[in-house]
Amino acid sequence: MPKKPSTSANGFSAGTPWIYSDIVKEHFLNPRNFLMGDENKYQCDAKGIVGNPICGDQMLMMIKVDEKSRKITDVKWKTYGCASAIASTSALSELAKERTLDDALKITAEEIEEYLGGLPKHKFHCSVLGHEALASAIANYKKKHPLQKSSI
Ligand code: FES
Repeated sequence: MPKKPSTSANGFSAGTPWIYSDIVKEHFLNPRNFLMGDENKYQCDAKGIVGNPICGDQMLMMIKVDEKSRKITDVKWKTYGCASAIASTSALSELAKERTLDDALKITAEEIEEYLGGLPKHKFHCSVLGHEALASAIANYKKKHPLQKSSI
């Protein structure tokens, strides 16, 4: 009779393979631009908050923007999401900095996946969470700071 894998107190089975790349693991354990503490104390120019209908997790994204160049100068975020969401948003926050608002909107889930050295297919929806929160924050910024039509 085959031996059952032993299960530890945290519910993980001994011998269960780690399904994430080392880069994902590193970003999960050391998330970049993660907002520590009270979000009301972070002086951002715009923010977006979204929920994931698949799992019910939430993501808050806050950005600072240079008004003249419309480049993102800083990103902070926090989430109730899983390891994939944390690693994906950590990568996204690095990719978004110093991009214009419109360039940041062009960052794709595939680009994030490539940056992280791959994500399990069933975790793809987690990588979308940060992206949607960033898009929401950018929309919030554009609403507050509409482009002025040049006088001709
Ligand atoms: S399972 Fe909810 S964000 Fe990954």
